[in-house]
Amino acid sequence: MRLEHCINYYDFRELARRRLPSPIFNYIDGAADDETTYRRNTSAFEECDLVPNVLTGVEDLDLSVTVLGQKLELPFYCSPTALQRLFHHQGERAVAQAVQKFGTMFGVSSLGTVSLEELSSSFSFPQVYQFYFHKDRGLNKAMMERAKAAGLRIMMLTVDSITGGNRERDLRTGFSIPLRLTLSGLAQFVIKPKWAIDYLTHEKFRLPQLEQHVDMAGGATSISDYFTNMLDQSMSWRDVAEMVKQWDGKFCLKGVMSVDDAKRAIDIGCAGIVISNHGGRQLDGSRSSFDQLAEIVDAVGDSIEVLFDGGVRRGTHVLKALSLGARAVGVGRYYLFPLAAAGQAGVERALGLMRTEIERDMKLMGCRSISQLSRHNLRFRNSSDRRQTLAR
Ligand SMILES: Cc1cc2nc3c(=O)[nH]c(=O)nc-3n(C[C@H](O)[C@H](O)[C@H](O)COP(=O)(O)O)c2cc1C
Repeated sequence: MRLEHCINYYDFRELARRRLPSPIFNYIDGAADDETTYRRNTSAFEECDLVPNVLTGVEDLDLSVTVLGQKLELPFYCSPTALQRLFHHQGERAVAQAVQKFGTMFGVSSLGTVSLEELSSSFSFPQVYQFYFHKDRGLNKAMMERAKAAGLRIMMLTVDSITGGNRERDLRTGFSIPLRLTLSGLAQFVIKPKWAIDYLTHEKFRLPQLEQHVDMAGGATSISDYFTNMLDQSMSWRDVAEMVKQWDGKFCLKGVMSVDDAKRAIDIGCAGIVISNHGGRQLDGSRSSFDQLAEIVDAVGDSIEVLFDGGVRRGTHVLKALSLGARAVGVGRYYLFPLAAAGQAGVERALGLMRTEIERDMKLMGCRSISQLSRHNLRFRNSSDRRQTLAR
């Protein structure tokens, strides 16, 4: 199987599975506990049907959206994800090149493997800095100042990771940073020598956003120690309100799932929220982000920008979320498997396929611009969700 044979998400996933040592594949592919939320994130789209209109003249399309003051050519963006150079040696550089080419937005993770300074000086597309809240307030302040000095204008605080999710696949393989593999996990690296050569012959693995403060790549602290010992479980709305003031730019909360929290985000001055359950990697049993979207848009959609991610694999998934009122849609594994499978060429192919799907689906729906998508063109099969469709 080669890159040119990949025509959808599932093909990229399969190519990545063949290329990656299984502990790394399972780190990307896996989720928390029984992975019910992970599966539900995607299957939720199947309970919502599209109702197209015809004969509307759709030869010219405009897929652009404006998100947190930035114009994007496409209504989907690459959500922040950790450890990308572990998946392919080009890591964030590959994703950034592809994002630049397609004119969308990129989230730089604080567990990223290329520095935010390098990314912001090399690329002009909108970048978002994804951040976790540390016990050490001085460290939070220093990291925000660093991001501001690097020219980043949008801060995205992840709030669904107050503690690490129970990722049982990682427990079985021994996946952690630094790698502390079980014997069978180690054997998986031996049988994928191409990945190992690729990894060992390129720039040493680093976590440049954190390395001045935490010795993770060097081995003194693991990612799970980082979550347990350095992040602040007492984080409160008051703390975040303080951060919003300090940042003095667009501030967004990632991982909001309730209407109450969405309202509080407005009260503390946030410009946006991302309805997200971290791709099912944190609280298993949490509602799918798509199922929760309408309720939140109805409550706060006129006062704050509502972004959305979770389970998106198809252009029609993007259209359904936009039709419910999401301002833009984030993808995670959708670009990570192509990255792992084939680096920049893989991410470009995946983003290109998604753009083509959205263009085709928009035409088939009879819509020329994203603003023409609405709930009039959606029907939910379940009766309580049907009421949500009609509410707006
Ligand atoms: C391998 C992996 C690493 C991730 N790392 C981060 C991260 O560092 N920070 C963060 O806020 N979200 C992280 N996420 C969550 C994504 O930003 C996004 O919410 C999620 O992937 C969306 O679900 P999807 O993968 O089904 O599209 C990660 C997700 C994956 C799969």
